Amino acid sequence: MESSTIVLVLCSLLWTVCAQVPVVSVEPRAVGIRQGETVSFRCRVVGGSQPVHLEWKILNKSQLAAENVKIGPDGSVLTIANARISNQGQYRCVATNSAGRSTVTTTLTIKYSPKVQVTPAGPLHVRVGEPMSLECSATGKPRPTITWQRNGTPLVTTATEDNNTMQVAAVGPEHAGAWVCQAQNSEGMAEVKVEVIVDGDRGVGMAPTALVSTAELTAVAGETVNMRCQANGSPPPVISWSKLRAPLPWQHTVEGGVLTLRGLGRQDSGQYICNATNIHGYSEAYTQLEVDSPPYTTILPDQMRLRPGDSLRLQCLAHGSHPISFHWTRVGRATMPAGAETTKDGQLLIGRVKLVDSGTYRCTATNHVGSSDAMAKVTVKA
Ligand SMILES: *[C@@H]1O[C@H](CO)[C@@H](O)[C@H](O)[C@H]1NC(C)=O
Ligand SMILES: *[C@@H]1O[C@H](CO)[C@@H](O)[C@H](O)[C@H]1NC(C)=O
Ligand SMILES: *[C@@H]1O[C@H](CO)[C@@H](O)[C@H](O)[C@H]1NC(C)=O
Repeated sequence: MESSTIVLVLCSLLWTVCAQVPVVSVEPRAVGIRQGETVSFRCRVVGGSQPVHLEWKILNKSQLAAENVKIGPDGSVLTIANARISNQGQYRCVATNSAGRSTVTTTLTIKYSPKVQVTPAGPLHVRVGEPMSLECSATGKPRPTITWQRNGTPLVTTATEDNNTMQVAAVGPEHAGAWVCQAQNSEGMAEVKVEVIVDGDRGVGMAPTALVSTAELTAVAGETVNMRCQANGSPPPVISWSKLRAPLPWQHTVEGGVLTLRGLGRQDSGQYICNATNIHGYSEAYTQLEVDSPPYTTILPDQMRLRPGDSLRLQCLAHGSHPISFHWTRVGRATMPAGAETTKDGQLLIGRVKLVDSGTYRCTATNHVGSSDAMAKVTVKA
């Protein structure tokens, strides 16, 4: 007997000893599909002793139990219809015969477009000078690439496999605005925009600058005026109003930087000061208020005793809104003495007085609001 014949005979007698374990292959070995698609894996016996029992197994138990996973009548074909992400994983075909067991594994990946998340989510408030860190993570198959962008320009950042962290050591005003994290794979692209708001702080604030709406303001006695003051600065300054060398008028109010004065009198004329203050300093701005009123007239001196031939000099004075014009007359007489001179600034001059120049002289001061008089008595005696 040939040796081969002997082996055959022995194998027939000792069937279990000579039987060979199954040899199986699976098609495809790995596959990536989109959600909703269908895939079939076929496990094929390519060797070993018959009969072979085929069975599909999964390391993750919940996957085979899914109702969209079906196994054909002979156990060789596994079909996943309308695939979802939870179907993802490794599927194993187990082949068993009398000689033993062998397995072959296939991998299913479900491709899906990225989903992005940024931590912390915006809007994010950061103070000038402080560090800022935004972590962007994304899911998706194939694994998406994650990039940070600003105004459409990709940034150099610390990226790992699953996430990408954008870090700024010390935030400046230029970091304010939108930051965009973008994740992209073959299935699509997703992005999240984070609004960053940079708040000023002690370190990099700005001293105030105060600005008044009008540097000069004119009103008529009895009226109401508003003086407006605006100031920029960081942090926003506090605005206060005061009056130069005097308290604010009794009837005043300040609201939102606006000073209101009611029932104005001539004494309310003057310089008003807006003071804008923050931790970095202060700034002052001025409004000059002129309250128009009729002239209040006096004459210096209001009495004069002279001898004939003396010179006469009377000064008419008027408080009130300018311009003020002066007019001299003589009470009870139609004309002024011959040789009398008047000046624009309110003086009455007579070079050499005569006895007949005795009398009462009247100065009338006039402005656009009204006029008023004052008298001076002149006595000329030998
Ligand atoms: C197992 O399956 C569940 C549900 O399908 C899934 O959420 C989980 O990630 C899977 N685990 C592994 C290790 O694949
Ligand atoms: C980001 O990646 C790092 C390093 O891989 C990891 O330690 C961290 O937990 C990840 N964060 C998130 C939210 O995935
Ligand atoms: C304005 O405020 C500053 C700071 O409080 C102060 O030093 C300054 O005297 C104020 N000016 C006026 C005119 O009140």
